[in-house]
Amino acid sequence: MTRETWATRTGFILAAAGSAVGLGNIWRFPWMTAQNGGSAFLAVYLLVVFGVGVPGLLGEFVIGRRARRNPMGALRDLSGSRRWAAVGAVSAVTGVALLSFYSVVGGWILRYLLVSMTGPLTGGAAYLSTPGAYFETISFGFEAAAFHLLFLAITGGIVLGGVRRGIELGTKVMVPAVLVLLVGMAAWVVTQPGAGAGYQFFLGFDLTTLRENFFSILGPAAGQALFTLSVGAGTMVTYASYLGEDRSLPFDGSVIALLNTGVGVLAGLVVFPLLFSQGVDPGTGGPGALFVGIAGAFAALPGGGLLAIVFFGVVTLAALSSSISMLEIPVAVLVDEGGWSRRAAVGVLLALVAVTGTVTALRPALFDFVAGTLVDLLLTGGLLAFLLFAGWVLGRDAVAEYVSGAGPVARQLATPWLFAVGIVIPVFLVFTLLTTAG
Ligand code: PHE
Ligand code: NA
Repeated sequence: MTRETWATRTGFILAAAGSAVGLGNIWRFPWMTAQNGGSAFLAVYLLVVFGVGVPGLLGEFVIGRRARRNPMGALRDLSGSRRWAAVGAVSAVTGVALLSFYSVVGGWILRYLLVSMTGPLTGGAAYLSTPGAYFETISFGFEAAAFHLLFLAITGGIVLGGVRRGIELGTKVMVPAVLVLLVGMAAWVVTQPGAGAGYQFFLGFDLTTLRENFFSILGPAAGQALFTLSVGAGTMVTYASYLGEDRSLPFDGSVIALLNTGVGVLAGLVVFPLLFSQGVDPGTGGPGALFVGIAGAFAALPGGGLLAIVFFGVVTLAALSSSISMLEIPVAVLVDEGGWSRRAAVGVLLALVAVTGTVTALRPALFDFVAGTLVDLLLTGGLLAFLLFAGWVLGRDAVAEYVSGAGPVARQLATPWLFAVGIVIPVFLVFTLLTTAG
C-alpha cells in the first residue's frame, strides 16, 4: 500500500499551521500569561518561540521527511535501534494525553457555540448574564464529558478522511477563516471602553517582574512556546512524513511560526482588552478566564450575540485543525507500524480517548495537571529526544535534509542550526525540565 502525501504545495503549510494555531493561542496562552506575570511571560515566551521552537520545528521536519514514517518508525529506521523506537513510541502516548484534555476544552467551545446560537432565541442565556457561574456549572461533569465526546467524534471524522481528503481539505478552509475573523475582531475591540488596560497588561514591558520571577516563568513560558508551535509531540514529524523533497523546510517552518505568532498576538489583542473592558482580572480566572471574560463582554454589547457566534465558530475551527494533528500521531503509528487500516486505528483511539477524556472532564484537578504540568514535561522531554536524535544520530544527514529544496540563506544557516539542535537547545531544555520538575 502506498503512503499518502500532501496533494498541493500549500497543503503541508496549511495543515502544519492549522496544527499550530489553536486553543493554545486563544485559550491556553491568556491563561498561562495571566498566571505567570503578564507581559514578562510574553517576553520569555517569544524568545523561546524563535530561539528554541523554530529550530526545534525544523528538527522534527528533518526527521519526518527523511524517514517518511511516524515518529516511532522514523527513529527506528533512521537509527536501526530498538531503543530509539521506544523513545519515538512515547509520541503516541503524548498524542493521547494531549487529546484527553484538548477535546474537553473543545467541548466547552462547542457548547458555547451552541448556546450562543440558541441563546438569543430563548431570550438570553445564563452564559451571558452570569458568565462566571455559568462556566462553573458546565466546565466539569457529565455534560462536559458529553460535549468532549462530540468534539472527539468530529475530530475522528476528519482524520478518518485521511491526509488529503480529511486533514488537507479541512485546514484549507479552517486556517484562512480563522485569520480573517480574528483580524476583524481585533479591529473592533479597539473601540471598546476600558480596552487600554488590556493592551498595557499584555504589551507593557515589565522588566522588574521579569527579573524577579525569571526562573519560575521559564518553565511555563517554554512549555507554552512548544505547545503553541505543536513541537515536541511528534505531530510535526508526522506531518513532514507526508512531504515530498521539493519543499524548503526552513522556509515552511518560518512561515508556520510567523503565522502562529501572528495569530497568538492577535488573539491576545482580542482577549485581554475584552477581559479588562469587563473588569475581569485574567489572573483569577484560571482555565475559565477566556470563557468568562468573553461571554461577559458579548453580553454588554449590542450585537454581541452575533459576535459570540462568530467568535466561538472561529475557535471551533482553530481547535479542530489542531486536534486532528494530535490524533494523527498515534493513528500514523498504528497504520505504519501495526499495518492497521486507518478506520481501525481511528476507531480504537477514539474509544481510548473517550475514556481518558471523560475522566479528565470529571476531575478538575486532573485536568489542571494534564493540561499544565504534564503537557509541559512531555513536550519538553519529547523535543529534547528529537533534537538529540537529529544532532547526534543523523548529524550530517540532518544537514543534508535541512538544505534539500532550500534556498541560499537556509544553506548558510544549516551548520549553525545543527550545532544549536545538537548542543545549545538540549542544554536549555534540560535546564527547563529541572526548573519545572524541581
Ligand atoms: N499547537 C496547538 C495549539 O496551539 C496544540 C498542539 C500541541 C497541537 C501539540 C498538536 C501538538 O492549540
Ligand atoms: Na498555537
